Amino acid sequence: MSNEQVTRDQAEPDQAGPGQAEPDQGEPDQAGPGQAGQHYFTASPVAAHRPGLVHVVLPDLHFECATDAGVFSASRLDAGTRVLLEAVPLPPARGDLLDLGTGYGPIALAMAARAPEATVWAVDVNERALDLCAANAAGAGLGNVRCVPPGAAELPGQFTAIWSNPPIRVGKQALHGLLASWLGRLAPGGQAHLVVQRNLGADSLQRWLQSQGWTAARIASRSGYRVLEVTSR
Ligand SMILES: C[S@@+](CC[C@H](N)C(=O)[O-])C[C@H]1O[C@@H](n2cnc3c(N)ncnc32)[C@H](O)[C@@H]1O
Repeated sequence: MSNEQVTRDQAEPDQAGPGQAEPDQGEPDQAGPGQAGQHYFTASPVAAHRPGLVHVVLPDLHFECATDAGVFSASRLDAGTRVLLEAVPLPPARGDLLDLGTGYGPIALAMAARAPEATVWAVDVNERALDLCAANAAGAGLGNVRCVPPGAAELPGQFTAIWSNPPIRVGKQALHGLLASWLGRLAPGGQAHLVVQRNLGADSLQRWLQSQGWTAARIASRSGYRVLEVTSR
């Protein structure tokens, strides 16, 4: 059984089976052939560099983002990320905001541009992604983005908002652990917005969040993705 099958099974698909995922939604930009075992969430990708450029065009924003092999969705803005960025309400104007699993940074950059007086913490395990995110923020003139690994000492204890296209492919247990720990750092009254593909377990993730005592509501459903709004406990 391939890694992909294992992960999808673990994610408890809500309706369609593994073969029915929409073709452009499968987190395709992991390592290329020849880098078996490498994923976009590898800390130090060994994939040969393949610099790319993604135009992030949203109704209110336009960024040019550098990308590379070994980083999630290196050839275009991920469809789920687009759904999130078009559905999510404006972030709080100030305070510490978190993009959990930033990749090359499209969510962090949008947060930072929409809340220029806030500090956006762009967190990822993938060092190549963090370097790209920092370069992309600088290129966009956004001085309020801090790209750091999850254990960075300077990370604040609480965040007034969290936005994430979370790494479903790490597997259900790891995903639950990741979300439990970061959602636990939502400031009182804060909200998290998560985008998850329906075929990769959005509805079961919503039920799990509710079972853990979070208020988790679906605020958008488009192109096979759900946007969940999670309120601090
Ligand atoms: C689905 S991708 C989203 C990337 C980017 N936000 C976007 O929308 O294009 C999930 C990201 O989470 C990162 N990730 C995986 N495990 C993580 C962890 N334990 N902590 C932080 N980030 C992680 C991956 O490296 C990947 O960049």
